[in-house]
Amino acid sequence: MTHHKRTEKALVITIDGPGGAGKSTVSRRIAERLSYTCLDTGALYRALAYKVLQRGIPSGDVTLLADLCAETDISFEMQGGAMTLFVDGEDVTGKIRTEEVGACASAISAVPVVRAALLSLQREAARRGGIVAEGRDVGTVVFPDADVKFYLDASPGTRAVRRHRELLVRGMTADPAQIEKNLAERDRQDSKRDIAPLKPPEGSIIIDTTGMDIDMVVHEMMKVIRRSMASERNQ
Ligand code: DC
Repeated sequence: MTHHKRTEKALVITIDGPGGAGKSTVSRRIAERLSYTCLDTGALYRALAYKVLQRGIPSGDVTLLADLCAETDISFEMQGGAMTLFVDGEDVTGKIRTEEVGACASAISAVPVVRAALLSLQREAARRGGIVAEGRDVGTVVFPDADVKFYLDASPGTRAVRRHRELLVRGMTADPAQIEKNLAERDRQDSKRDIAPLKPPEGSIIIDTTGMDIDMVVHEMMKVIRRSMASERNQ
């Protein structure tokens, strides 16, 4: 029997986890395999952080942040699986990958008005399904009813090595020890916050990717996804 992809339900798949656990690489691969869209939610926080830094707004100033959210237009375009991000029409895709922007994104992401501003944007992107969303709260808060949820983790050392490699590929230099320190600080900040703290979503499949290469991780995840698709078909 042949089955036709088009009649298959387009799933919402979420991947949560700390920085350097492999979320972005893995989510891109899985989206490619399924011809789904890949939504990098961290990039949205980074886009806003970029403007916060440009304006010199203190990341703890809730009033100024609320004003900024109200007047800022964040949008994105998906092209062949890649996301191009715009802040007030300016393409910021290549400018948001620095450690400075990441740290600021982590700080402002603890502010409720910031999370609220980005929530509808994320849900709108998944309206028709067929999406792999990755971030810190995509399975817990943004898409609690997702069809398949994963939580990726890895040891601090492994995550620091991956982050370092990522920055090198982008042509940036960084000190590995400093990266490990930054990651630990970001983890602490992202996990202890009252709103949408980083944690494994209910019903998620937890994968520790320490010592696994990307192909292995993708393989494990695809098995889970195929099983979920098969059970959808049999319903
Ligand atoms: O994954 P990343 O490094 O691009 O994310 C940058 C910061 O954005 C991260 O430290 C916390 C915040 N973030 C969040 O709070 N919720 C998400 N879904 C994604 C990112």
